[in-house]
Amino acid sequence: MRSKVTVVGAGNVGATAVQRIHQLGYADTVLVDVVEDLPQGKALDMLESGPVIGSDAMVTGSNDYEATADSDVVVITAGIARRPGMSRDDLLLTNMNITSAVTEQVVKYSPNCIILAVTNPLDAMCQNILESSGFPRNRVLGMAGVLDTARFRTFIAQEMNVSVEDVQAYVLGGHGDDMVPLVRYTTVGGIPISELLPAETVDALVERTRQGGGEIVALLKAGSAYYAPSASITQMVEAILLDKKRILPGCAYLEGEFGINGLCVGVPVKVGTGGMEQVIEIKLTDAEQKALEASAASVQELVDVMRNSKAENS
Ligand code: APR
Repeated sequence: MRSKVTVVGAGNVGATAVQRIHQLGYADTVLVDVVEDLPQGKALDMLESGPVIGSDAMVTGSNDYEATADSDVVVITAGIARRPGMSRDDLLLTNMNITSAVTEQVVKYSPNCIILAVTNPLDAMCQNILESSGFPRNRVLGMAGVLDTARFRTFIAQEMNVSVEDVQAYVLGGHGDDMVPLVRYTTVGGIPISELLPAETVDALVERTRQGGGEIVALLKAGSAYYAPSASITQMVEAILLDKKRILPGCAYLEGEFGINGLCVGVPVKVGTGGMEQVIEIKLTDAEQKALEASAASVQELVDVMRNSKAENS
């Protein structure tokens, strides 16, 4: 029997993720959205690509959650993007309400699934989804680090004119301007990047990575990135479905690891059938630790805003 993956949010990120997962051929997918007929239309269109791409997997679109029952993995991309006049907090609280409502339905129909959080602001939404689900921490993880790392790897490969496959890198911390690309652990063909590029060049690539999402938004004018985000989602879904035990940067709920307790932040994790199977702790320098803590503090601020809002409304 094929695995089953639900993607909630049939917008750019969600629909492209389903397209990529369908192309793998070994998972049936369900695309869910609140907009009537939208997920059904996109799902049917993708299903009809099956004979051409050689995928016998099923793609279903739905406005409710019955069709999602017993999913192995549920990817949550539902939300809204920031509109003119909206503060970050407005976006935070709107997407908090959306992801809470979505999570409730997801848990009702797929009580044993692994949830992959994608909606922004990512780390805060991951925390909200974890808390709303009541799942153990291994069954909720967030996708941001794979994307941030992919951007960093792309820029390094371009700079050095080498294969992207030979560039390994890690980006820790929140999915924001203060993310922490770990230059010390960044290698090209196993050689530390500090041996290959001048420090100023590396600094410029780090800065471009930090602004990577914004660079795309500025070019697109409307909407944000979705090709690299959906590829990153697919890599994480595949690691879960095939129990690959991949070591990837993912947003995980920390319980004292890296000196952080009770917060979802980007760290290296082992990803397999159990979801976030292990936080891989690495020794950081004082500067790296400080940068990670500063990034975690930004996430904590958002989590506090969510907590206050929930307390006011309860
Ligand atoms: N339930 C299901 N779907 C919802 C809900 C809800 N309660 N609320 C909104 N949606 C849907 C919208 O109807 C829309 O189709 O979520 C979809 C979001 O799609 P886009 O606006 O195209 O956004 P997208 O670019 O796909 O990004 C989705 O991923 O990377 C992040 O920052 C990004 O938070 C954003 C998310």
